Amino acid sequence: MSGFLSSSIARKVAMALSALFLIIFLLIHLTVNITSLFSENVFNELSHFMGTNFLIQFLMQPVLIFGVVFHFVMGFVLEIKNRSSRSIKYVKYNGAANSTWMSRNMAVSGGVILAFLVLHFIDFWFPEMNYKYIEFLPEDPTRYFAELQHKFTNPLRVGAYVIAFVLLALHLLHGFQSAFQSLGLNKYTKFVKTLGKIYAIAIPLGFITIALFHYFSQLNH
Ligand code: HEM
Repeated sequence: MSGFLSSSIARKVAMALSALFLIIFLLIHLTVNITSLFSENVFNELSHFMGTNFLIQFLMQPVLIFGVVFHFVMGFVLEIKNRSSRSIKYVKYNGAANSTWMSRNMAVSGGVILAFLVLHFIDFWFPEMNYKYIEFLPEDPTRYFAELQHKFTNPLRVGAYVIAFVLLALHLLHGFQSAFQSLGLNKYTKFVKTLGKIYAIAIPLGFITIALFHYFSQLNH
């Protein structure tokens, strides 16, 4: 690895910055999606705004996609470097004695989230790009709610989403505070740890609620 990412500290800082960026994105993403529990109109309006605003589409969206790809690539690079520089292998010592399952398995939970994102992009993002930029279908500001509902009719997909959100919670339970530590913000450890736990449970729980709500609300129709 060349340039400023050649030092391990720079890699950890870059990883932490991309994590914080994604933490903010998840909060915005949940805020938009949670409106679908209360109001079809509000959800449609917000989705239409996000999906047609020039700055969001052509500045924020490419930055977000870069952030997601960067985080996964860098995560796996860090994992491989850590494994190869570790002289005592995990099988020879009791990792559970001084670290949590979450911290030792960030690559596992990260891998499951990556698999979820592939499914999620096939479900929402590719059809959206196809609608707007390949087929150039006419704008319809009221279509988003029905598209969302339609995705949550298959129990297998709902199950896969819920499992992924549980792993997202495990990933965030370690990742949130770890990102702050990598940035040297240890002074606020207790506050960051508490905030991290609340965030790591509340955000995935919000997504789980959305998936289950739309699944069960359509069962009797
Ligand atoms: C019930 C839960 C969720 C629902 C209903 C949902 C819904 C959506 C929808 C409708 C889009 C398409 C936006 C568009 O391009 O118009 C989208 C995009 C996306 N979602 Fe989700 N999402 C959920 C959970 C998540 C989670 C947990 C993550 C991350 C771990 C995530 C990451 C993304 C990303 C990266 C995109 C592409 C953003 C973009 O449009 O550029 N989503 N989601």
